[in-house]
Formats: sequence, structure tokens, C-alpha cells
Amino acid sequence: MAERSSFVVVANRLPVDEITTPDGERQWRTSPGGLVTALHPVLTEHGGTWIGWAGGTGEAPEPFDLEGIHIHPVPLSADELERYYEGQSNATIWPLYHDAVETPVYKRRWRETYRLVNQRFAQAAAEVAADGATVWVQDYQLQLVPAMLRELRPDLKIGFFLHIPFPPIELFMQMPFRAEVLRGLLGSDLVGFQQRLAAQNFVRLARHLLGLRYEGQSIQVDGRKVKAGAFPISIDTKEMERLAADPKVQARAKEIRAELGDPKTIILGVDRLDYTKGIELRLKAFRELLSDGKLKVGDAVMVQVATPSRERVEHYQSLRVKVEREVGRINGEFGRVGVPAVHYLHQSYSKQELAAMYVAADVMMVTPLRDGMNLVAKEYVACRGDTGGALVLSEFAGAATEMRQSFLCNPHDPDGVKDALMRAVAAEPAELKRRMRVMQRHLRTHDVAQWARTFLDALEAAAEGRDPEPDG
Ligand code: ADP
Ligand code: G6P
Repeated sequence: MAERSSFVVVANRLPVDEITTPDGERQWRTSPGGLVTALHPVLTEHGGTWIGWAGGTGEAPEPFDLEGIHIHPVPLSADELERYYEGQSNATIWPLYHDAVETPVYKRRWRETYRLVNQRFAQAAAEVAADGATVWVQDYQLQLVPAMLRELRPDLKIGFFLHIPFPPIELFMQMPFRAEVLRGLLGSDLVGFQQRLAAQNFVRLARHLLGLRYEGQSIQVDGRKVKAGAFPISIDTKEMERLAADPKVQARAKEIRAELGDPKTIILGVDRLDYTKGIELRLKAFRELLSDGKLKVGDAVMVQVATPSRERVEHYQSLRVKVEREVGRINGEFGRVGVPAVHYLHQSYSKQELAAMYVAADVMMVTPLRDGMNLVAKEYVACRGDTGGALVLSEFAGAATEMRQSFLCNPHDPDGVKDALMRAVAAEPAELKRRMRVMQRHLRTHDVAQWARTFLDALEAAAEGRDPEPDG
């Protein structure tokens, strides 16, 4: 029998991922993406069990302990990986929830496998949760888990947090098993979103699709109340500030600047290689500014880190081709021997190396077409200390609601992006410092520990049937 915990997190990803190196050796490495970045410090502080997929296929590794977290791996077969993870999660739900910026693909057998795998995660949670435990289910891969888990264990407090946007009703209604997904989420006591509007979409959808009554952010379901609210996620601000101030990171940042040829302006992008992130439009804006003569190679250099992601999904394969073609085009037209215009890095980095890049960069470009939050934007701000630096930020990132002193732009408007980038490049150092200080102050009080605390307090109140302050 598995060890039982009073606090259980259920997510598709574990904080670590088991990979096989080219020499066939098995190794653990930090999992990609913002969900893990945010939850890892929360679980380290809180303790408890983290249920998730270990990254490979076939039998799951045995449970183990990591930095005070009890890790409980769930297995996926190769077929399940293809249908549940690559298919239903990342070729249907991911694009649909991100404003259908790529066309969602609908397949019956993907849905069936999604259901089956969600049942497995629910079963695992039912086994490891102690009596009356708090179970916190994460993200779009596991939307059926709350209802499945409530069926198995009505004694639990069940929370759900969606890390990505929740779509408007018209888009959600495209999904073939929409009512099942909605009922799945309604198995929770509290459903959390990044944005107020998302919570409102959810509550209205419950009435539209299932005819449920609601008052404020509280939905009546089978004689229970389900709360919805906005809980904008954040970063471990103190840890990021500490990392950036580390003399080794500072020295590495100077080295990066020198390696780039000591340009006046380093423009940085750091994203998973994902079509929601607006990497292509950012490259295009840079190319046009070079072509207009507003930026000059040598004076300005762009560094684009594009973390490999979901590489077997077709949308991601075609994106990679397009991005690499654009990088080649820019360097072909504007680069010189030994002086490329764009440095493109399709690799993962350590936290230290990323922090050094943030410290080195004068302008950070975060231009998603749609993003639940975007932690990279917040990490950059936290790393800047008193050195200023400019954040160019899409209005379509959740972070735009909080990072109001950034250079906001509409990523669908190429001239708007170019204009924001040029304003960022030309801004006075004193103004940049002033803007950064306001955003840094916000991040110190709104860090990831505060996010988790606020959600878990609201969950406790919702599960006990008390009326927590409606939050959205
Ligand atoms: P998403 O969750 O969609 O990937 P976020 O911006 O919210 O987007 O989170 C991305 C996280 O992944 C950040 O914590 C960032 O530091 C990290 N990250 C991004 N690129 C890399 C990379 N190449 N190597 C290591 N970590 C990365
Ligand atoms: C986003 C999602 C997470 C996901 C991460 C990385 O942050 O919200 O659920 O874990 O991207 O994607 P991956 O498919 O590699 O887990």
C-alpha cells in the first residue's frame, strides 16, 4: 500500500523527467515549463506527494523522495503518450484553449485514451490521499480527474488550477466531449484560473452548457457549491533575485555580453518552441527594423532561446521549420562573418545560465499570441536588480495584467511590436529603472508562495462550505 499524504498534487508532469541519453543511459533532469517552475518551490516548502508522469513509456519508476517531496510516478504506454499527451492534450485542448491560434484536431480515440489516463491519475490520488486530505489537480491534461476522484473519495478537498487560458464559450463549444470536461472540472470544490475573465467564462459556461445556477462565482452542482476564482500564478521572487545577484551569475552575464561582441543592445527571447509564444513575429519585427535601418547589426543583437518541446506533434514540427527558416533568412541577409544578427539556441539551460542571460539582456521580448501567465516575463523583472532593462510584453499574456510598466504591445500588429521594441531600445535609463522598481515591488508581495497560500486558503473555505471572498 502506498504511503498516504494529507497534501497531494496531481499534475501530468513531475518536477523531474527521466530521459535516455544518446548512449542509452537513464538520467533525471528538471522538467520543462512554467507549471514545474511554480509548483516545485511550493511542494518543497509544503511537503506532500506529487503524482505525475515520469517522462518515459512503459513501467513507471518506483516512488521516491526528492527534496522533501514524495514523488509518485504514474505510467504511460507509448500509445497513451501519443493519444492522451500528444493528441488530446497538445493537439486538441492546447490550441483550442489558446484562442485556436493553430487549428485544434479532434479524434475520438484520443478522447477515449484521455479518459482512461485521467482515471489512472484519479485512482493514484485516491490511493495516496489520507482521510480528508487536500488534493490539488493541475492543468488541462487532467480536467476529468476532479469528478473521477470525488466519485472514488468524497471525503477529500479537491482543488483544480488551470495554468493556461480558459477559452470563451464559443470556442469551448467546439469540443466534442465538452459537457464531460465541464463536469470533470465541476468535481472540484474550487476551480482556479489565471485571469478574472477566465473564471467568468467558466461560470457562464456552466449555465450555458449544463443549465446550472450560479451566484457570483459560486455554481450549484448536485446540491454542492463549486467556487471559481482568479489566482494569478507567480515565481519564487526571492530565489530569482538571489540567483541574479550571485557573483558567478554576474560574471557569466559579463562574459555573455563579451561573447556577443559587446553590442549596445542585447535583445533576448526565452520560450518553449511553441506556436503560442509569437517567436516568428518577434523575429520578423527584428528583421524589418534591420531592413528599415532603425537597428544595426553589431549595435543590436538578438538571442532567441527556444526550448525543445512536444517535438512529435505536427504543429510543433512545422513551427520549428518556420522559425529556423526565418533565423537563416535574417542571418543570411544581415549577418557578417563572425557577427550574426540572431543567435538561435534550441537547447535547455540551467537556472544559473538563464539568470545570466536575463542579467545580460537590455531588452526582453515576450510576445505570445496568447499565454495563461508567462513566468519568463516575471523572471526577467526579478533578475534586473537596480540595472533597469526593458520588458516588451504582449497584451495577450496573463502577466500583462500585473506588469503594467512594461512596453505593452499587440502581437497581431507588426508595426505595434516594432514600435514597442524601438521605444524600449531608446528609453532613458532612469525611466527604465523607475518602471522596473514598480514591477519588482509587485513581485515581492505577489510571489508563488502567496499564490499557493491564497488558493489553498480559498479551497479550505470552499470545501468547508463557507463563502470565501469571490475573487473574480
Ligand atoms: P510555459 O509554461 O508555457 O513554458 P512560462 O514562461 O510560464 O511558459 O514558463 C517557462 C519556464 O521554463 C520558465 O520558468 C523558464 O525559466 C523555463 N525555461 C524556458 N526556457 C528554458 C530553457 N531553455 N532551459 C531551461 N529552462 C527554461
Ligand atoms: C505549460 C503547461 C504545463 C506543461 C508545460 C510544459 O506550462 O501549462 O502543463 O507542463 O507547459 O509542457 P510539457 O508538454 O513539456 O509538459
